[in-house]
Amino acid sequence: MTKKLEGAGLRGQVAGQTALSTVGKEGKGLTYRGYAIETLTEKSSFEEVAYLLLYGKLPNQDEFVHYKQKLKQFRKLPNDLKLVLAKIPKSTHPMDVLRTGCSMLGNLEPEGDFKNQNDTADRILSVLPSIMTYWYRSSHFGEDIETLTDHDTIGGHFLSLLTNSEPSDEQIKALDTSLICYAEHGFNASTFTARTCASTLSDMHSCITAAIGTLRGPLHGGANEAAMEMIEQFSSRDDANVGIKVMLENKEKIMGFGHAVYSNEDPRNKIVKAWSERLSKTAKNPIIYEISEEIEKVMKEEKNLFANTDFYMASAYNFLGIPTPIFTPLFVIGRTSGWAANVMEQRADNRIIRPSEEYVGPDSAEWIDIKDRV
Ligand code: COA
Repeated sequence: MTKKLEGAGLRGQVAGQTALSTVGKEGKGLTYRGYAIETLTEKSSFEEVAYLLLYGKLPNQDEFVHYKQKLKQFRKLPNDLKLVLAKIPKSTHPMDVLRTGCSMLGNLEPEGDFKNQNDTADRILSVLPSIMTYWYRSSHFGEDIETLTDHDTIGGHFLSLLTNSEPSDEQIKALDTSLICYAEHGFNASTFTARTCASTLSDMHSCITAAIGTLRGPLHGGANEAAMEMIEQFSSRDDANVGIKVMLENKEKIMGFGHAVYSNEDPRNKIVKAWSERLSKTAKNPIIYEISEEIEKVMKEEKNLFANTDFYMASAYNFLGIPTPIFTPLFVIGRTSGWAANVMEQRADNRIIRPSEEYVGPDSAEWIDIKDRV
């Protein structure tokens, strides 16, 4: 086998500059445009954070009222997009639905030149929750829903359409916090994909579609869904304790643990964990929180590995009544603000992204005629 390349996976290499976030920087932790994640989740809303990322500053009162109004108006789905969504089978993974939905939107509302890139970003951010919930209600219940709602927040809008009932303020705030935690995170795989796509001067819909495809995998955004499937295999703390140890002995990866950048903790974990615990108090199945705690304890003891943001997101979303396959689409909705901000940042100071490679193939190969090949 070829010797593994030093710095494989581009780990630790600086691939560009950003003013959008710091991820685990000494003395800074996780910040969006200089604001600590702890402050943002405590004091702001997801819409305010999206504005911060996309427009470069926190909105003043008037700007914020106007922005929320704009996002509300952008929730409507074009009829042709509804027709496409209604044809996607119930068995399809919701991430594939989002990927198709975003791409179709690019056919119906092409970006053209980049003069209105902020409007394009806001439109995609606002319509993705409508795409997800429209398809869900259509494929699962045969309904043709109106996706304009009066909810001020994307969290409230999403939950009300998904569950066809009015969420509580606590539920809305929990979802809102999760979207803030997911909003931005440096040059992670999906964001780097979006930037690479943007560096070719491609359109915003292509960049976001490519990023959705990248987020889908279980080593990235798909970890929240994979973590839930694992947690649900266990019926008690003891069961989880034994089961995780067996998985570790079998050299299995435990989803929702470890991180490519953080080495001691993921600062989003304590925020999400606190919400999971809070929601568990009124949940039908609070045991899921206890099992999660046990898994976290075993992972610390056995591997000295910490939970990343996706681990307790799984139980928190479960307590909110969100079907497991829709966990990663919520990551998409949050991260779209960061992806689009990165696309704009890349465009503002662009050079096509084109790294070099180390060739490990044969030195030279002798041509063999097709009839003589084995
Ligand atoms: N479960 C068990 N062991 C793990 C682990 C996990 N979740 N994450 C890392 N490890 C182990 C690896 O097996 C490896 O051990 P080794 O040196 O004995 O081979 C070591 O820790 C280093 O891990 P590695 O996969 O090389 O780290 P990475 O930086 O390449 O990958 C992740 C980071 C996030 C992809 C990885 O930790 C992972 O796959 N986690 C699970 C998926 C997940 O939660 N993804 C969401 C990230 S926010």
